[in-house]
Amino acid sequence: MKVLEIEGGKTLSGTIRISGAKNSAVALIPAAILSDEEVTICNIPEITDTEALCEILKYLGADVQRASESIVIKSSKITNQEIPASLSKKLRASYYFMGALLGKYGRVKMRFPGGCSIGSRPINLHLKGFEALGATITEKGNCYVVEADELHGAEIYLDFASVGATINIMLASVKAKGTTIIDNAAKEPEIVNVATLLNNMGAKITGAGTSTIKIRGVEKLGSCFHEVIPDRIEAGTYIILGACCGDNLKVDNIIPEHVEALTSKLKEAGVPLKIGTDYVLVSKPKKAKAVHVRTQTYPGFPTDLQQPLSVFLTQCEGKSKVEETIYENRFMHIPYLNQMGADIRIKNQTATIVGPTELVGSNVVATDLRAGASLVIAALLGKGKSKITNVEHILRGYEQIVEKLTNVGANIKEREI
Ligand code: EPU
Repeated sequence: MKVLEIEGGKTLSGTIRISGAKNSAVALIPAAILSDEEVTICNIPEITDTEALCEILKYLGADVQRASESIVIKSSKITNQEIPASLSKKLRASYYFMGALLGKYGRVKMRFPGGCSIGSRPINLHLKGFEALGATITEKGNCYVVEADELHGAEIYLDFASVGATINIMLASVKAKGTTIIDNAAKEPEIVNVATLLNNMGAKITGAGTSTIKIRGVEKLGSCFHEVIPDRIEAGTYIILGACCGDNLKVDNIIPEHVEALTSKLKEAGVPLKIGTDYVLVSKPKKAKAVHVRTQTYPGFPTDLQQPLSVFLTQCEGKSKVEETIYENRFMHIPYLNQMGADIRIKNQTATIVGPTELVGSNVVATDLRAGASLVIAALLGKGKSKITNVEHILRGYEQIVEKLTNVGANIKEREI
């Protein structure tokens, strides 16, 4: 088991370079199998989630070559077989193989995906989309068989603008006969990045990034070169860290527009920020005031950043509120923050944070990826030593976290126990 040992209380300055977006990369890798030709994707983050997807690719028989940040995938020799649960349960995004294999072969057999336990996370909207495209679905003991004689275009309204369902429907419909329209589609930047990859491969997708996406089916997809966008959640995590203990901390290689919901909240709280064309420079404010956030789909405040933000809010004067509207169970970091000295109460889906409070190091557990990230920030901010266990969750989504933090002056070590 891996643990992180952190000695907090240091001021952090220097530059953190942001990696490729996890939530893009995990969809781009399965999407690549829709072509039999070579697909090169660069800026793939080296995190355990992308490693797990490469394992699945190899299991299916794809040729996968990894060279530093790029990956070259050739899928001409893959076979359409069931992905073992031992591989699919490693991460939520394994479900993108449902859309990709269905789109390629018209049939897929797969188990329910894994991922962070932050809510019930059903896949009914994905399945509704597949059915609308002409597939029939049989479910037996958590195993789904989705098959169609022929996939055809359809108009699909999503009851909720789900990121996963939008991407999976794009993957399944890209080679279907006729035109598919997804209404109330998710608008996250990762959706645009996936649509761009597919278009580079020869697909005909318009409207990605708006709530109506139109996919005109094509017969064949070819080879392409594509780049993963910078990770807006990794960027946001480090910007929040800078607001907690930074002195001109530069968070570099980002698309500032993608983190605007966060930066405007931090400005409202009084955090000094300089926003450049591809970076944000952030320092801890002398005094910060309480703010309220409510998580929403993009471009609203991202659910993935509410846990890290809650640490900063413990330093703000007054009563802040964080309302989580996307997941039912995304406050598991709160008892640990309270153990470290925070004053946070949860009622229904809202956390009320009274500040400022001094945080002190403690032994805590990363219950999920972003809870883990928030505990890293709390440990760096707090006085004294912290030990974080269940670090595997954090390594699923943050590339070289120890190196990046050490480079800006943090005292953090990863140990195997
Ligand atoms: N939902 C349904 N039915 C569905 C699909 C979703 O009810 O068929 C509900 C979910 O239960 C949830 C809400 O809709 O309450 C949002 O789910 P969505 O499908 O948008 O999320 P996702 O695709 O499962 C991705 C990211 C998450 C991120 C969300 C929201 C990946 C692999 N995961 O999840 O990232 O929180 O979008 O932006 O892309 C993370 O990075 O820590 C993370 C959890």
